[in-house]
Amino acid sequence: MSKDTLTITDNRTGKTYEVPITHGTIKALDLRQIKTDAEDFGLMSYDPAFTNTASTKSNITFIDGDKGILRYRGYPIEQLAERSNYLETAYLLLYGDLPTQEQLAAWEHEVQIHTLLHSNIEQLIHTFRYDAHPMSIFISAVASLATLYPEARQVTDLDKRHLQIVRAVAKVATIAAFTARHNQGFPFNYPDDGLSYVGNFLKMMFKMTETHYQPNPVLERALNVLFILHADHELNCGTNAMRVIGSSQADPYSALAGASAALYGPLHGNANEEVLRMLAEIGDIKNVPAFIDKVKRREALLMGFGHRVYKNYDPRARIIKKIADEVFEVTGRNRLIDIALELERIALSDDFFISRKLYPNVDFYSGIIYQAMKMPMAMFTVLFAIPRTAGWISHWLELLCDSEQKISRPRQIYLGPECRDYVPVEERQEREKVGCW
Ligand code: CMC
Repeated sequence: MSKDTLTITDNRTGKTYEVPITHGTIKALDLRQIKTDAEDFGLMSYDPAFTNTASTKSNITFIDGDKGILRYRGYPIEQLAERSNYLETAYLLLYGDLPTQEQLAAWEHEVQIHTLLHSNIEQLIHTFRYDAHPMSIFISAVASLATLYPEARQVTDLDKRHLQIVRAVAKVATIAAFTARHNQGFPFNYPDDGLSYVGNFLKMMFKMTETHYQPNPVLERALNVLFILHADHELNCGTNAMRVIGSSQADPYSALAGASAALYGPLHGNANEEVLRMLAEIGDIKNVPAFIDKVKRREALLMGFGHRVYKNYDPRARIIKKIADEVFEVTGRNRLIDIALELERIALSDDFFISRKLYPNVDFYSGIIYQAMKMPMAMFTVLFAIPRTAGWISHWLELLCDSEQKISRPRQIYLGPECRDYVPVEERQEREKVGCW
């Protein structure tokens, strides 16, 4: 008869242990009983990039990377992209279910009335150099929200916590737009509660001298879809950072700033910007085969390709590819799409990419659409961070309510020097350097 346990034999001692299997996992702490003798600390698992370690149970996002499935709270991403909008999806992620009509109206109203920024944050944004990367400004401004709302530190107070959720979701869009305007040297456009969340964001980004700015409905819809697709992606690097920082009970703005900093890396959310740079460097379809050869010689990465979890086509990339044509109807065709399509065609028929299961990810096509919408290239990662805020906070809330969670603190395997005595400077001899720095 089958049993939900794992039997382990330690060949060092010949002892056998039986540990329970729950949800397809064993508890790492169950390994600790496996010792060579009473002095031994006990067995640990070694997993440098968490490639096979679950750090939480979660009810938020489901991904089946082999089948290319993504669901938020059980709803397929394809349905949400077609029928929902960003703010409704944010509610779904945060509160676990789609809102009723009344709940949605109340949520939209709450978010709208918190979109204004304290003038201190406006001044802070103005202090950065005109060419500062918008992600650096964004991270600083988000962290600075904690200076204005010190009660955010009371993370166990439900009312205060709710207020910070609303503030964060509302204010990240304003911070993002002000950051872009600052880079461009244009005055800030204040939020407009007559528009949707995304419509208001477009207005804050692009209004110039028009008295009545109206966002283009096709672009507003496309940006809603892009925001929905980026809203959560379970335990990626940024979300893990949010949970790690949140586990010390830091205020949510500090945790959001940390999560945004993780997102800023080129292997994570900044890949959308890097894809555009790569496509611009390739410059012409005829140069694609040479670039693919460069990737295969390991002289470059094919940015926007590959994923830790998806080993099949990223379903988000499929949806984005579809909306590109709708956007181009309004904006005109971005010629970089032809280079991207050719890259994808060649890569997907080449054994280097097939054998490694490398497919386009969410970032491969998103930048091309953002560029067609006249979003500055350096803003692409900020455009990722705005909707991901809802996902980050959802995970933060889940963490705070999870009695199994503690302050995050991995173990290490110490391989450094044994205990040695301090040597006076005049007696020291230069030694060979350790490490790669
Ligand atoms: N171009 C060329 N080779 C690649 C690429 C790529 N984009 N991605 C992975 N590989 C190779 C890698 O060198 C390795 O080859 P080998 O087995 O011969 O050593 C193999 O494929 C497996 O890759 P890995 O490095 O073990 O994969 P990972 O899960 O550690 O990394 C990744 C995932 C997304 C960091 C990586 O695929 C990558 O760097 N992609 C380019 C950056 C990118 O597009 N990032 C956005 C990710 S999606 C949005 C987000 O979550 O932020």
